[in-house]
Amino acid sequence: MDQELRRAAKDLLIRYGGDSFPNLFHAAQGAVVVDDEGREILDFTSGQMCATVGHNHPAIVRAIKESCDTAIHMFSGMIPETVAKLARKLGEWLPPPLKRSLFVNTGSEANEAALRIAKLATGGYEVIALGGSWHGTTGASAAASYASDRRGYGPKVPGGHVIPEPNAYRCPVEHCRDKCDMTCLRIGLSMFDMATDGAPAAAIAEPVISAGGVIVPPDGYFQELRKACDARGMLLIFDEAQTAFGRIGDRFAATKLGVIPDVMSVSKTLGGGVPLAATITSDAIEEKAHKAGFTYYTSHVSDPLPAAVGLAVLETIEREDLIPRAVEMGAYLRTGLETLQQRYEAIGDVRGEGLLLGVELVQDRETRTPHHALGAVTTARCFELGLSMNIRRRPERGSVWRIAPPLTVTAGEIDRAVDILDRALKDGLDTVARG
Ligand SMILES: Cc1ncc(COP(=O)(O)O)c(C=O)c1O
Repeated sequence: MDQELRRAAKDLLIRYGGDSFPNLFHAAQGAVVVDDEGREILDFTSGQMCATVGHNHPAIVRAIKESCDTAIHMFSGMIPETVAKLARKLGEWLPPPLKRSLFVNTGSEANEAALRIAKLATGGYEVIALGGSWHGTTGASAAASYASDRRGYGPKVPGGHVIPEPNAYRCPVEHCRDKCDMTCLRIGLSMFDMATDGAPAAAIAEPVISAGGVIVPPDGYFQELRKACDARGMLLIFDEAQTAFGRIGDRFAATKLGVIPDVMSVSKTLGGGVPLAATITSDAIEEKAHKAGFTYYTSHVSDPLPAAVGLAVLETIEREDLIPRAVEMGAYLRTGLETLQQRYEAIGDVRGEGLLLGVELVQDRETRTPHHALGAVTTARCFELGLSMNIRRRPERGSVWRIAPPLTVTAGEIDRAVDILDRALKDGLDTVARG
C-alpha cells in the first residue's frame, strides 16, 4: 500500500458525494475487486451497478482490444459499423415498437435525450417523476430526480412535478401498510392535474426505484401510469439504467411488466463498465422529434469503442444465458437474506427483483423507525470483512442495503456474502448498543 498515493487521492480530488472508502483500489475481476493492500473484496454493487457480466469479462477486454486495432472515436457525423451492429442487436432484444436508438455515454445523458425527445414530440415541457427517483445529475435529468439533494444549485428546469412513490413498506401518503393500493398514484395525478400549465410532455419512472430504496411498484402500477399518460397526451419514459439486460430476470422491465413505454433509456448495464447509454424510441416518435428539429450532437455520440463493448455485453448475456441465471441466483440470495430476516428483528423488509435486492433496517418492526446508525456501521463492517455493498440512507425514508452482484456471481460467493452480512449485523448491533 502506497501512503503517498492515498494522500494524493485525499488531497487532490474533488469530493463528489456519496460514501467513499479510505483504501485505493487496484483491480477488478468477476465479482471481486482488489484493494491497495491486495485484499479481495466481493463487489455486490457490480461497480456502480454496471458490471452485470462481471468485471473485466474477457469478451469486453477483447472488444476493447479490437477497437484499438480499428477505431476508438470518430467524427460524430460518421456512423461507425460497430454502432450499426449494436443498433441491430438491440433491435433484436427490444419489444416493438421500440426500435431506434441514440448511443450516448451516461444514464443522465440518455434521460436528457429522452426528455428532449418527449418535449419535441408532444410540444409540452412538463415532466412527472416519482418520489425517490434518480435519473441523473445533468439539467433535465436532475430536475426529474428526487432521491438526490437538490438544494443550492439554483433554479431547476421548469415543468417538474413529483408524485408520491409506491412504497408499500413506508407509504409516503401514510395510507397503506405492506400492500400498495395505488392511492399514491391517484393522489399524485390529481395534484398534477391541478398544478399543470397545460403543457404535459412525459412521465419518467424507474421500474424498480433503486436509489430511492429498491422499491418495487405493485402489480398494475405501470399499466395505470401508462393509461394516465395516454389520457393526458404525455409520453411514458422508462429509465431502465438498472433493470435492463437481465438484472431483474428479463430482457427489460418493460418486457417483464408487459408495459411498453414510448421512450426507454438504458445505460449502466449496457456498457458493462464502459460509459455507454442509449435512448430508444419508436419510428413514429423519432419521426415527430426529427421533424421538430431534434438534436443531441455531442463529442461522443455514436462512438465506436463503447458500441463494440455494448455488443460484447449483449452477446455475452445471450451466450452465457445470464437472464435465467439472474432469476436463479436472485432467488438463492433472497433466501439467504430472508433467513437473516428470521434471525434479526432489525431486518424489517427484504424486497426487490432478480439480482436487484433491498434490505430495510429498522429499530423495531412495529414502528418501522429507520435504523440509520445500524445501516452505517454494518456497511463499514461488511467492507472490513470483505464485502462491498451499498447503503441507501434517506432521513425520512429509511436505511436500505442495496445488494446487486454481477449476474455471473456464484452460489459460493453468495454464501460468503450472506455470512459476512450475518457477522456485520451481529457486530453492528453490538456496536450500536454500546453507543
Ligand atoms: C435509474 C438511474 N437512472 C439514471 C442514472 C444516472 O446515470 P449516470 O450516473 O450514468 O449518469 C442512475 C445513476 O445511478 C440511475 O440509477
